[in-house]
Amino acid sequence: MPGEPFYATTPIFYVNDVPHIGHAYTEVAADALARWHRQAGDDTWLLTGTDEHGEKILRTAVANGTTPRAWADELVRTAWLPLLETVGVANDDFIRTTDERHERGVAAFIQKLYDDGHIYAGEYEGFYCVGCEEYKQRDELVLTDAGDYAGELVCAIHSRPVEILKEKNYFFRMSAFQSRLLELYETRPDFVQPESVRNEIVQFVRQGLSDLSITRTSFDWGIQVPWDPSHVVYVWFDALLNYITAVGYGVDDAKFARRWPAVHIVGKDIARFHAVIWPAMLMAAELEVPARVFGHGWLLVGGEKMSKSKLTGIAPGEITGTFGADAFRYYFLRAIAFGSDGSFSWEDLTARYNAELANGFGNLASRVLTMVQRYSDGTIPSPEGAAVGAAADADREVRDAERRATELADRAMERIAPHEALAAIWDLVDELNGYVQSQQPWALAKDPAQKARLDTVLFTASRGLGTLAVLLSPFLPTATERLWSALGAPGAVQEQDIRRAFEWIGDGPVRPLDPPLFPRVEAEAAVGA
Ligand code: ME8
Ligand code: MG
Repeated sequence: MPGEPFYATTPIFYVNDVPHIGHAYTEVAADALARWHRQAGDDTWLLTGTDEHGEKILRTAVANGTTPRAWADELVRTAWLPLLETVGVANDDFIRTTDERHERGVAAFIQKLYDDGHIYAGEYEGFYCVGCEEYKQRDELVLTDAGDYAGELVCAIHSRPVEILKEKNYFFRMSAFQSRLLELYETRPDFVQPESVRNEIVQFVRQGLSDLSITRTSFDWGIQVPWDPSHVVYVWFDALLNYITAVGYGVDDAKFARRWPAVHIVGKDIARFHAVIWPAMLMAAELEVPARVFGHGWLLVGGEKMSKSKLTGIAPGEITGTFGADAFRYYFLRAIAFGSDGSFSWEDLTARYNAELANGFGNLASRVLTMVQRYSDGTIPSPEGAAVGAAADADREVRDAERRATELADRAMERIAPHEALAAIWDLVDELNGYVQSQQPWALAKDPAQKARLDTVLFTASRGLGTLAVLLSPFLPTATERLWSALGAPGAVQEQDIRRAFEWIGDGPVRPLDPPLFPRVEAEAAVGA
């Protein structure tokens, strides 16, 4: 019996360049969310992929002396698929906009909108930013007074000159959906999150919506418009449709009904496309709008959005090479409130890694397992035996902390607040460290009369550790798998019901963790690694 459906997506990324840690951030957030739901028994599907059409990709390919298709193939193979491996993403599907399933779905969708009168022919003249692949209003541009482009109008996001385009285009009557969109934001306040992004979107739509130019004629790297092959579909109109073409739109109704609608995890830079254009397209096609659109914050470098075009990107492998994929996932999801911007620094990463992962969690795991080996012949004492030691207040507090962490983390993940989930789980790490410190099993072990109490303490600490393994598995898939097997627990940790994490009971035999889950990293080794 499949559980509740849960379909999560990342943006599909442009293949004009290799990924940086901003892209990896979105990937790990969506992946942790999907893993949480999967582990809660939901019928989960995680989609990611690449956006391969449009002028930006075409120009990059030509500049590199190749064709856009060959360029995209190369980048997907050498950079975008390996990224998933690098940061431990367990996606269920990977869509490329050059996939035949996608091209067919886009053609069917746009034809339907045309047949139903949502598309008309017109002419457009305006400023176009190829970096954004978007027409710009004058107030989205800046007149520069210095540098290479002094005296020119540049895009506020890309700091590159815009072009004036005049084309015969087909237009999508997006303006017709203004009031339905406002009603959507009104009746479903969590449709767009966080609040700051929601407010911006509502404000934008209230000012009035124009129709959207959705085809181009000046180049041909795109999906042909079925009724007029001299046009290709505008890259954003094409790209947004990946979320439905990947799950059977128009070809597999059962699959489509099972998956759609999705929760879209995107950066706030593209929230408008997802929360305005996309639901309007779906309304026009008489399909359900997305379940939610979450626009997370930006990773900043020197106060600015880290970006490919500004050459401020850090490759994810630079971090995972020293710290590992689990630490990458933990750091970005813990240190930055999901929805807010965050600055990355090697110092902060190293400090948190050592304090929270190496000392806080890793050390706890090693200590408890070592004590079970040393004082209990490598077998976690049974709860019945342990009960002889009479549960003290301290034991009950650990139990309560396990329940609390499980519940609070689940609620936080429901709100798409991974930083809060991790904070709640870390209260359990701290509780267990405090418990081991105050109960001093090493002292109890010296007195044979305290054997029952020692058993209770070892049982309680081991059970807490097992609960942590289950709760942290969506965030630290590799370390928790190792811990689970070191605890001698049956099955795979990612198969344990996460909403009942605290019901876990282990009975060993345990094995030592060698090397430790998170070996300390010296500051010098990390900075500029
Ligand atoms: O916009 N901080 O692709 P893209 C955080 N193809 N996240 C960042 C980031 C940063 N500094 N930089 C990039 C596109 N991202 C379109 C999407 S979807 C139908 C089409 C992440 O390659 C973040 O998720 O420019 C952002 O929204 C996305 O990369 C933009 O990726
Ligand atoms: Mg971009």
